[in-house]
Amino acid sequence: MRSIREIELTDRRVLMRVDFNVPMDKEGNITDDARITAAIPTIQYISGQGASLVLMSHLGRPDGQKSEKYSLKPVAAHLGELLQKEVKMADDCIGAQVKAAVDQLKGGEIMLLENVRFHKEEEENDIDFSKKLAALGDVFVNDAFGTAHRAHASTAGVAAFLPAYAGFLLENEVKMLRQVMEHPESPRVAILGGAKIKDKLGLIRNLLDKMDILLIGGGMANTFLKAQGIGIGRSICEDKLLDEAKNLLLTAEGQHKKIILPLDAVVADTLSDDAAASIHDINAIPEDMMILDIGPQTNAVFSREIARAHTIIWNGPVGAYEYKQFTAGTDAIARAMAASDAVTVIGGGDSAAAVHKLNLDKEFTHISTGGGATLEFLEGKNLPGVKSCEW
Ligand code: 3PG
Repeated sequence: MRSIREIELTDRRVLMRVDFNVPMDKEGNITDDARITAAIPTIQYISGQGASLVLMSHLGRPDGQKSEKYSLKPVAAHLGELLQKEVKMADDCIGAQVKAAVDQLKGGEIMLLENVRFHKEEEENDIDFSKKLAALGDVFVNDAFGTAHRAHASTAGVAAFLPAYAGFLLENEVKMLRQVMEHPESPRVAILGGAKIKDKLGLIRNLLDKMDILLIGGGMANTFLKAQGIGIGRSICEDKLLDEAKNLLLTAEGQHKKIILPLDAVVADTLSDDAAASIHDINAIPEDMMILDIGPQTNAVFSREIARAHTIIWNGPVGAYEYKQFTAGTDAIARAMAASDAVTVIGGGDSAAAVHKLNLDKEFTHISTGGGATLEFLEGKNLPGVKSCEW
């Protein structure tokens, strides 16, 4: 990958893709600015070198329509506060007015373009649209790891018209995730959670290949449990994937790898904040109940494997984390990983949010800013946004 360290930036105009797709509340307040703070080292480096900087990002999925709800204006204001300098906000991301405003930028100045997804051509990776974006810079820098799995105009298309380089965030994400997948020190443990196996089949297969032990919780564990003939009551389950789950368990056995499933569970009859939760052995789940978190016995076994490991990757909460009665398992994993001396990597939005909530960020080797991008990377896929900087 080409790094921005390799180029002279003074008096250049840098067009940089960032992933400022951050969560906001109804009033437009940013509720988690991790993706913005993660891009700051590259932003400071580029403007500190005397280049003018044109930032572009998407926010949400506005489907090619302009909409105030998805405007990046609050992000420009927040970034300005973090940098303690003005961040100019453009009304659009292409067009004569935007071009004129960009041409006025002086060395060290920063402008954020309006949401690139206000134009449907962005997601179509339209050549003409890519050319228009490319006209706003003389160097393209990609620092949007979170969007690197999308072959869109602002992540991949522009690279056909400008020399492309990776920013520090993209570079570091790729370095850390490659290191953990390509040279992991044994014992290697992956913890997988989240609701569904369907979206994670590629990931499970690749992790089975690279890791020694898979600890599985969350809704996805139910399909594996049922595939083994265990009664899961009214829990969510992907019945169409029971055979697939059986095959994965057999593959693990054949490769002398261990898949460890929950031994007990926190169950309730409804998924709500006031649901009455109780703990049951996994072989005694009541028929009218749902499995909503891993139980204390499972926590103990998972934590023991985590304590022994030298490499740990975690993706997805192991319980219905949005409800307070079902957070104990996920919190226990975060704490066990934080206490470990292993290389610890968090890939995925919800697990990262759990770590932020417990204020444990500093205890981890790497917390990825990607969700879907991290999953695809860990599946072993080549990401278009990474490829665009590899010329
Ligand atoms: C994300 O939040 O995963 C990225 O910003 C990509 O967003 P998308 O799934 O809408 O493409």
